[in-house]
Amino acid sequence: MNGSAAKDHFAMNGTVTEDHSGMNGTIMGNNHTMNGEDDLADSLEQWATNLAEAAKAYRGASGQQSLLLRSKMSNNAKQIIDAIKDPGETPFEYSMAEMGALRMMMELKIFDKIPQQGSISYGDLAASIGAEESLLTRILWMLVSTGLLKQIGENQVAHTRLSKTYVDGNPQGAFFQIMFDEGMITYTKWPNYFEKFGLKEPREANYVPTTFAWGCEEKNFWEMMNDNPKRLKAFNLSMATLDEVLPVTGMYDYSWIADHAKNGDSSRTLIVDVGSGKGQALKRIMASCAEIPASRLVMQDRPIVIEEAENTKDEMLLDVKKMPHDFFKEQPVKGALVYFIRRIIHDWHDDNCRIILSHLARAMDSDSRVLICEQIMSNPPSPLNAQTDLCMLGLGAKERTEKMFKELVPSSGLRLIKIWKAEGTNVGVIECAKGEQTNGH
Ligand SMILES: C[S@@+](CC[C@H](N)C(=O)[O-])C[C@H]1O[C@@H](n2cnc3c(N)ncnc32)[C@H](O)[C@@H]1O
Repeated sequence: MNGSAAKDHFAMNGTVTEDHSGMNGTIMGNNHTMNGEDDLADSLEQWATNLAEAAKAYRGASGQQSLLLRSKMSNNAKQIIDAIKDPGETPFEYSMAEMGALRMMMELKIFDKIPQQGSISYGDLAASIGAEESLLTRILWMLVSTGLLKQIGENQVAHTRLSKTYVDGNPQGAFFQIMFDEGMITYTKWPNYFEKFGLKEPREANYVPTTFAWGCEEKNFWEMMNDNPKRLKAFNLSMATLDEVLPVTGMYDYSWIADHAKNGDSSRTLIVDVGSGKGQALKRIMASCAEIPASRLVMQDRPIVIEEAENTKDEMLLDVKKMPHDFFKEQPVKGALVYFIRRIIHDWHDDNCRIILSHLARAMDSDSRVLICEQIMSNPPSPLNAQTDLCMLGLGAKERTEKMFKELVPSSGLRLIKIWKAEGTNVGVIECAKGEQTNGH
């Protein structure tokens, strides 16, 4: 196998697409042949070349191109690490302990107490939170050992470029927090959950793995979050970070909405953002198309989220109408030009999605559009797709492939016009018009 063939044998997401004899990642084991070693060397060389090429192109890259190159570099680096790792080393992966240490240090706001410049002693840090120095040192050593934090001398600790992400209020740090609290804590309870409820996908919003793991299985995820303001705040904060990896613009041209603002009926609502969160998607759309007037947009979400959005007083959203609304009930804004619905459908199983979408279908005029913005899973999925899908499983929900969307949309009173995707992202916009009601909703 020559170097360039190595590229074809491994998809970018790490999937082995055909048998690659001798390339089972073993270099210290004793079951590989000379040929296997040659193949491995060829592949390693190819991945290293790919990495070097991407690194070169990265100079001066920005925006979408920089995202693509970073993803290429990290995929090639991962291929190298996976290929040279001994299978026997896998159970000793440190990431579980590292995640536990990181989450605990965030809880205690340790990253806020480490100075942005310079260092602090373990003793002073421990004293600042009333902890035993030896305990805190052991936990922080985990993070120092993996390079997340830096130790200076024998007893001082300092930030690295990466650790500053975990100071209080940082959306990326909040994203780790919710992946731990809502994802990781749920995974630890999977065996108990599936033993109790059977080996099948949860289809309802309550009695789901995440609420089960948190000891309130009778609630749905959102009811549980209502009772936990701290977790809800982290959740809402974290949503903004996904915009980098799962962008809302770049795959769909929203400028026709601005044209309509100029030339169409001036009393018509242009966009209803259904389940808007704090309006982060609307902000991106407005930034990409400045002619869309904020005063003709509506944000709808649960009362607690709308209240938080009002209190935030985000300047860009000041003129946007903020409306508490339960999307399982009749849509009060009739005949809007666009009903935009992002990262909502993946929160629910099919029957609930049909109820949400059919309320929009009923409110639409013949020229209205529903724009569903979601990850579109490849088959097999990318690691990001797969990870979010398992998080969604915890809520009784799921990520979907193109095929799954093509089945869901027509059964919800909508007609699928086109699925818009941008190269190198996992996200798409599914454009729908009013269609036939086929399922009795
Ligand atoms: C994953 S977030 C997506 C937020 C936003 N669309 C975005 O893309 O950033 C899901 C949102 O659905 C809202 N939600 C959940 N149940 C709802 C309901 N029954 N009616 C309206 N909004 C709801 C949540 O409060 C949350 O803001």
